[in-house]
Amino acid sequence: MKQTPVQAILCAFLSLSICFSPKSIPLDQGIPSLSQSVGGSAVSEASEHDSDRDIVFYRKANDNMEIALTFDDGPHPYYTPIILKILEEYGIKATFFMIGENVTYYPAAAEAVLKAGHEIGNHTNHHKGMKSLTDHEIRKEISDCEDVIYSLADYRPTLIRPPEGAMNDQVRRVVGALNYRIILWDVDTHDWAHTPPAEITRHVLKEIDAGDIILMHDFIGHNSPTPEALRMLIPALLERGYKFVTVGELLDET
Ligand code: NI
Repeated sequence: MKQTPVQAILCAFLSLSICFSPKSIPLDQGIPSLSQSVGGSAVSEASEHDSDRDIVFYRKANDNMEIALTFDDGPHPYYTPIILKILEEYGIKATFFMIGENVTYYPAAAEAVLKAGHEIGNHTNHHKGMKSLTDHEIRKEISDCEDVIYSLADYRPTLIRPPEGAMNDQVRRVVGALNYRIILWDVDTHDWAHTPPAEITRHVLKEIDAGDIILMHDFIGHNSPTPEALRMLIPALLERGYKFVTVGELLDET
């Protein structure tokens, strides 16, 4: 790993504090179901607000074999460029849900993502669980991240992934008022738990369907399995006829 000691310590600290918590699986969400995925039934639990209903997406079915890769918690100074190179080799576009604080630390990596034509989503400024925040705090976490991205890239994200996928009616209401769409996932690669690449690949190939959103991470700290998993996974998915699009493209396809 070509990191200075200071970077290594910083990465280790960030990965412990940001990514490495076992609760990064949204247990409170349960397993996303098809009924939660498309159009008017996006939020299956009763919500009296019509405007809330179509802003949460786990997947979006389509007939074109389209799927979306997503990368959370970056940018990372070492792993993000490696992932970008792999995506470029295959001519694939993906969506990166960035933490504002990490964009501030590693602006070059964030710029490289945008320059390569990928989509950037909001993953809040400090990756705090939003269910324990006030309305004001939720808005600030979102807008601070958005401002960091805008000041760097002149780009305003319109998609948000709540940290750890943690969400409730309050989060939906506040996020909805900011005109973001909430993007969760249908296939979790468990790369955040250092799952071996071959196991990630097996799991994804077993679970994948057209329209799925796949959760991966470009910021896992040391020994990330993600690049190697991508090298196995992408060709296997291409061989099965899947096409990679950004989340925005997946949702906006008519
Ligand atoms: Ni995250």
